[in-house]
Amino acid sequence: MSNRMWGGRFAEGPDAIMEEINASIDYDRKLYRQDIAGSQAHVRMLAACDIVAAEDAETIAHGLDTIRSEIEAGEFTFSRALEDIHMNIEARLAELIGPAAGRLHTARSRNDQVATDFRMWVRDTLDALDGQFTDLIRVLSERALEHAGTVMPGFTHLQSAQPVTFGHHLMAYVEMFARDRSRMRDARARMNECPLGSAALAGTSFPIDREMTAAALGFDRPTANSLDAVSDRDFVLEAVSAAAIASMHLSRLAEEIVIWCSAQFGFVTLSDRFSTGSSIMPQKKNPDAAELVRAKTGRIYGAQTALLVMMKGLPLAYSKDMQEDKEQAFDALPNLSLALAAMTGMIGDLTVNQKAMKQAAGSGYSTATDLADWLVRVLGMPFRDAHHVTGRVVALAVQKNLTLHRLPLADLQAIEPRITEDVFSVLSVDKSVRSRVSLGGTAPANVRKQARKWLKALEREAAREGRSATA
Ligand code: ARG
Repeated sequence: MSNRMWGGRFAEGPDAIMEEINASIDYDRKLYRQDIAGSQAHVRMLAACDIVAAEDAETIAHGLDTIRSEIEAGEFTFSRALEDIHMNIEARLAELIGPAAGRLHTARSRNDQVATDFRMWVRDTLDALDGQFTDLIRVLSERALEHAGTVMPGFTHLQSAQPVTFGHHLMAYVEMFARDRSRMRDARARMNECPLGSAALAGTSFPIDREMTAAALGFDRPTANSLDAVSDRDFVLEAVSAAAIASMHLSRLAEEIVIWCSAQFGFVTLSDRFSTGSSIMPQKKNPDAAELVRAKTGRIYGAQTALLVMMKGLPLAYSKDMQEDKEQAFDALPNLSLALAAMTGMIGDLTVNQKAMKQAAGSGYSTATDLADWLVRVLGMPFRDAHHVTGRVVALAVQKNLTLHRLPLADLQAIEPRITEDVFSVLSVDKSVRSRVSLGGTAPANVRKQARKWLKALEREAAREGRSATA
């Protein structure tokens, strides 16, 4: 049997393999809500423009409501022979309401239909992700406020560098995730134009009102060029690219958690809720959630690459290649969502082992820069000379197996006679972090201020959204 939707010129039905490679219904059924909303907006616009009778439009719109309920109740039979969600729904509509169903597809094509449905799906998904980024930023800021004065080693090259506060470290991620959230918002603002009415590629001769459908579907405006509207997928690429960057940030934090909860570091303990055991080694508690957050990055980068490669050779306008866009986004964005939820849970629950952090913060001569700075500030030494003197002090401390602030004054004076007792005021890790008050620096006072600023900003945002939701 040839296809009911487009089979007019076909004598034979498709080969089984043709059906297999062509059908997208197994995954694009995810778009049913957007597809139904798009069709309802379209047919009501057709009635308002006197292109179909108002009665037919209402019958169609109600039939589509019924189909939505059927799908949501699990009573809808999806058919591969009907290829995709668009034709599955239209065919069912014909069964439900008869020939009037055939009027729905006036002045539109599956090309503008799928572009519209998919934009709405990506848009809705970005909105949900926005709330998740906000939750993560909030929990990081709360934990940062709690640990504004908790000292830990700061690293470069993963070697002890200078002491920092754990709060400062967490607030670094607040900045990163805030930029991720703003990238998603930028993408959303740019993509919020409605392709519907671009039809197959050239627009339509029917007197349609594209402003009306755009407004009904929550778009800011209709797209300006019909060829562009049906043939670009930069909107999903932008969302997935922003997701790739965000997943890179999540992965770095996940990697740090994995390191921090190793026995060798012991900086944090994950809650039982976000750990797993080993089936053979009874003592083990593994940071699987962090590892999986780290691993999700791979598939998200993969989706971005697949989309870029899929698009790069396509002449305008629509090509069937573009059907392959959906699985990538359907995989990448929900996995980012899962990673965000897991990270938020881990950060909220984790126990900070302040003693281990502090001990590590004091090892590795991490306050050597503070000593050099003291030589510059108090003795007026050029920094390069101070660096050299400090290097000799460190060498002596290594030889005596002592931390810097435990070295006897006499030893320090043997290297630089002008050093006084006052130097010890900068050599402990607490004093070191407290002195880093420059803008953006790690001092507990700075961290407290930043964390409070973020928490207040999030509160204000929530209040604003609460108000606009009820307005
Ligand atoms: N399932 C198709 C897709 O996702 C819908 C558009 C089909 N258009 C066409 N001209 N065959 O791309």
